[in-house]
Amino acid sequence: MTKLKTFCLSLLFPLAACGLETSSAAPRGPVSVPASPVQRCMNLGGALEASNEGDWGYTVRAEDLQRIKDAGFDSVRLPVRWSAHAMTRAPYTIDPALIDRVKEIVAEADELGLKIIVDLHHFDALMEAPDAQYERLFAMWRQIAEAFEGAPDSLILELINEPRDKMSVARTDAVNQTLLDIVRERHPDRWVIVGSAQWGTLPALLKSDPPEDDRIILTFHSYQPYDFTHQGAFFADPPPPTGREWGTDEEYRDLDQAAARAAQFAAEHGHPMFLGEFGVYEEVPLDQRVKWTRAMRETAEAHGFGWCYWDYATTFKAYNIDRETWIRSLLSALVED
Ligand code: BGC
Repeated sequence: MTKLKTFCLSLLFPLAACGLETSSAAPRGPVSVPASPVQRCMNLGGALEASNEGDWGYTVRAEDLQRIKDAGFDSVRLPVRWSAHAMTRAPYTIDPALIDRVKEIVAEADELGLKIIVDLHHFDALMEAPDAQYERLFAMWRQIAEAFEGAPDSLILELINEPRDKMSVARTDAVNQTLLDIVRERHPDRWVIVGSAQWGTLPALLKSDPPEDDRIILTFHSYQPYDFTHQGAFFADPPPPTGREWGTDEEYRDLDQAAARAAQFAAEHGHPMFLGEFGVYEEVPLDQRVKWTRAMRETAEAHGFGWCYWDYATTFKAYNIDRETWIRSLLSALVED
C-alpha cells in the first residue's frame, strides 16, 4: 500500500504553490451547484483495492452494506484494482472471477437500496507511462462497460482514481473523453464520475476541461492538510511527523474558500460535485479526526456537494472490524447534526 503523495499534494493552499494557481477566485455569493445523485457515501477501501480481496485485512460482507445503509448513508464506493486481474497483452482480458465478484457486490448494494460507485483504482503503470498503457486501459473499460450493461441505475461508474505523475491535466482531459465515449456506447444514461490529475485534487480539477455530457459528476479528493491527515501513516513516504493538530480559524477559512471555488466550477460547468475521498489516518487522536471530518462533511454539504468518507474499515476506518462496532464519534461527525 506504499503511496508517495508528494509535496504538491500537501499544499492545497496557497494554490500558487507548485504552479497550481487558478483564475477562479472564490465567489462572493451563493452559487447553484446541481444536486448530486450521491449524497452520503462510504468508501469500501482496502478490499478489491488490494490485488486480492482480503490481503489488506478487509473483505466486503453483505452485513457491512446493511450496516452502512442503516447508519444513514445512501451510497458506497467500491475501489477496484482491475489492472491486477487483466492480461498485460492484448486482448487484456479481465479475469471473469473479478467481474463476478464486483457484480455480486453491486447486486447486494442495489438490493439494499444503496447506490454503488465502481471505479478503476491503482492503475499505477498508467501514471508512469500513459502512452504504453492506453490500449490496455481502453480495453479494460470496454470489458467493464460490457459486463455491466443493463445494470440497475444504482450503479455509477468512475473512470480513473487519482490520475497523477505523467497523467497531466491535459492528458486526463483527453482520456476522460475517450473513456466516457466507450462507456456511453453501452450506458447512455448512467451517471459517470469524472476527476482530474495531481492525485485527483481540487487545483487540477479547477484547471480541467470536463467532457460535455448531461450525466457526469465532477469529483475531487481532499486530505488537506496532508501533514495532518497522514501523520504517522506507515504507507506515506515519508510518514509526516505526529503531533500536528488541526482547527485554527485560518484552516476553517481555507477549507471554506476551497469549497467555494469547487462550487463555482461545478456551477459554471453545470455538473454535480462529489468529494470522493476524505479522511484521517486511524492513529491520529480521535477528537482531532472527528473535528476535521465534521468540518469537511459540513462544508461539503453547505456547498451542495455529495461526499464519500475514506474509509469504512481499514487504515482511516470509521468502523472497527475487530470489535464489530462503529467508531461512534466519527460516525456521528458524518451523519448527525
Ligand atoms: C488510496 C488508499 C489510501 C488513501 C489515503 C486512497 O486513494 O487508494 O490506499 O489509503 O487514498 O491515502
